[in-house]
Amino acid sequence: MTTYAEEYRRSLGDPEGFWRDASAAITWVKAPGERILDASNPPFYRWFPDAEMNTCYNAVDRHVEAGRGEQAALVYDSPVTGTQRTYTYSELLREVAAFAGVLRGSGVEKGDRVVIYMPMVPEAVVAMLACARIGAVHSVVFGGFAAHELALRIDDAAPKAIVSASCGIEVNRVIEYKPILDRAIDLSEHKPGVCVILQRPQAPAPLVDGRDVDWAEAMAAAEPAECVTVAATDPLYILYTSGTTGGPKGVVRDNGGHAVALHWSMAYIYGARPGDVYWAASDIGWVVGHSYIVYAPLLMGCTTILYEGKPVGTPDAGAFWRVIAEHGVNVLFTAPTAFRAIRREDPSGSLIAKYDLSSFRCLFLAGERLDPETYHWAREHVGTPVVDHWWQTETGWAIAANPMGLEPMVTKPGSATMPAPGYDVRVVDSEGQEVDRGVDGEIVIRLPLPPGCLPTLWQDDDRYVDSYLSRYPGYYITGDGGHRDADGYLFVMGRVDDVINVAGHRLSTGTMEEVIAGHPDVAECAVIGVRDELKGQVPRAFVVLKAGSTIDNDTLRSELVARIRDQIGAVASFHSVDIVAALPKTRSGKILRKTMRGIADGHDEPIPSTIDDPGALEALRPLLSSAAN
Ligand code: COA
Ligand code: AMP
Repeated sequence: MTTYAEEYRRSLGDPEGFWRDASAAITWVKAPGERILDASNPPFYRWFPDAEMNTCYNAVDRHVEAGRGEQAALVYDSPVTGTQRTYTYSELLREVAAFAGVLRGSGVEKGDRVVIYMPMVPEAVVAMLACARIGAVHSVVFGGFAAHELALRIDDAAPKAIVSASCGIEVNRVIEYKPILDRAIDLSEHKPGVCVILQRPQAPAPLVDGRDVDWAEAMAAAEPAECVTVAATDPLYILYTSGTTGGPKGVVRDNGGHAVALHWSMAYIYGARPGDVYWAASDIGWVVGHSYIVYAPLLMGCTTILYEGKPVGTPDAGAFWRVIAEHGVNVLFTAPTAFRAIRREDPSGSLIAKYDLSSFRCLFLAGERLDPETYHWAREHVGTPVVDHWWQTETGWAIAANPMGLEPMVTKPGSATMPAPGYDVRVVDSEGQEVDRGVDGEIVIRLPLPPGCLPTLWQDDDRYVDSYLSRYPGYYITGDGGHRDADGYLFVMGRVDDVINVAGHRLSTGTMEEVIAGHPDVAECAVIGVRDELKGQVPRAFVVLKAGSTIDNDTLRSELVARIRDQIGAVASFHSVDIVAALPKTRSGKILRKTMRGIADGHDEPIPSTIDDPGALEALRPLLSSAAN
């Protein structure tokens, strides 16, 4: 049995040997040859440059061929519709091959993009796998995003087809998706050739003649499609994520490196084995859903749970325990905010005792910092190990974790434990120099990034370099800050840029500022993330009005809330607006957002020497100090 230290050392000292060994877990059409890493064009690196495979084959077909066809592949548990449905691997294969045929019949070929805008229904997973099957590139857009955000993604990905559903269900409210989709297509310059619409009985939608087709009718007429061989370096999907400025960034995931890395993570981070029941209570619209609802559990031959519900309110704070007990869940992965929501409704954990949790082995949390209070509550009431692990859309799997399948380590609350093999994690100061243990700095990763991480941004190599690689040549910047302690444990304390994390959802304050600046009464504004007991962070806007404007705070607030809901989506959880006389700025006119954030977080924030009007900051201080609610 190797230790974490040995594996980690080997992964950095002999990355090609390390990942060549890991690649044996994947079935290749053309196995990786001599070259495991193509490092000929830094800062661009490609893993398994000579290999060929198909991700869908690895996630579905090969388990059927190996005799596991009758094992449950996917369990759909939907308290919001009162439905449960199980798909065996054989059934999933039939559905996926049929939908791959629908896409093929609609003219979708290898390399074409398909946007998927769907709630948490099995058809969404089927659509993702069907794309992978024919080498099409899916781009799933989270259902909580509004038409404008969807349109931006349609224009960037230029999909040949869009797959959507007539509606989603939020606890007990039906959210009609189809009008949002229609509006997004109106707003976008690029028009898809076809939209396949899953009609849900809660709100069937009218279809557009000549463009929309009904999912069920198309499936009934479909010719099943076989797996198409793709290069390991071909894109599997694009997932848009929030950056500091500009439109959303199209994170690209390749096929081969992704499959190898996710399979490795299942075994050695999550300690999962074929046949285990694995539940990531997230949404397929986020990276956690891509990696750990869909691809990783299926690549490993586990049963994955697809849960269309919330941690509370569907119907109560015992929902997670019910799902674990009913389906024999071994591993649960969710965001700390879900546990804060459960704790708020059931502080003593009394609902836990109602369920048999004997199958449950380990709880993994990510998406935002796991605050020690939530860690202790979960540890005390759930009884399993509780693992905080840190990663982001860009990496696709954990940068730091407690490697439960390799060598479980002592937990330090507040720490994501150790860097995962393959990640050469450093903490640096603003000059890019490594800081001492215990000192906070920016967390960066020395290139090359391991398999599974983004090779670039969709059709935008320059933005990839500008956003992540140019500040400290040779290093990828994570956008997070923190430190390593004397034992090497990594503490990730929060973003150092204008990205915020609202209930585990990653959002850009810059985008919110753009929307607010479009209001006719607004001269300028700053949006910062402030602490929130339930959601971790929520956005708060400070607005300077145009000269002569007489709008009052309440009216402005409700108009801005409506704008943000309309253009970004309800998921922004935007509720707080203050009209102020001025915003603190540097002499060159840059708004001091970092200083504002620091004061709102209760830090003893130094006043920058470049400040133009210290009075503006002092006037804002009481408001900022009360910002954390
Ligand atoms: N489709 C449409 N609307 C959605 C949506 C979706 N998929 N997801 C969220 N929304 C809407 C909600 O209905 C809500 O709208 P409202 O303001 O009109 O009420 C708004 O977006 C905010 O939603 P949410 O962040 O879910 O807040 P909440 O108060 O409804 O619930 C929690 C709070 C903590 C229970 C909830 O955020 C949660 O379950 N979080 C789990 C975290 C998670 O899965 N993170 C993913 C990354 S791991
Ligand atoms: P996303 O790309 O949506 O997965 O969001 C990634 C961001 O969430 C990271 O850059 C961090 O800011 C934050 N994050 C995710 N997991 C953790 C964690 N375990 N601890 C601290 N922050 C986290």
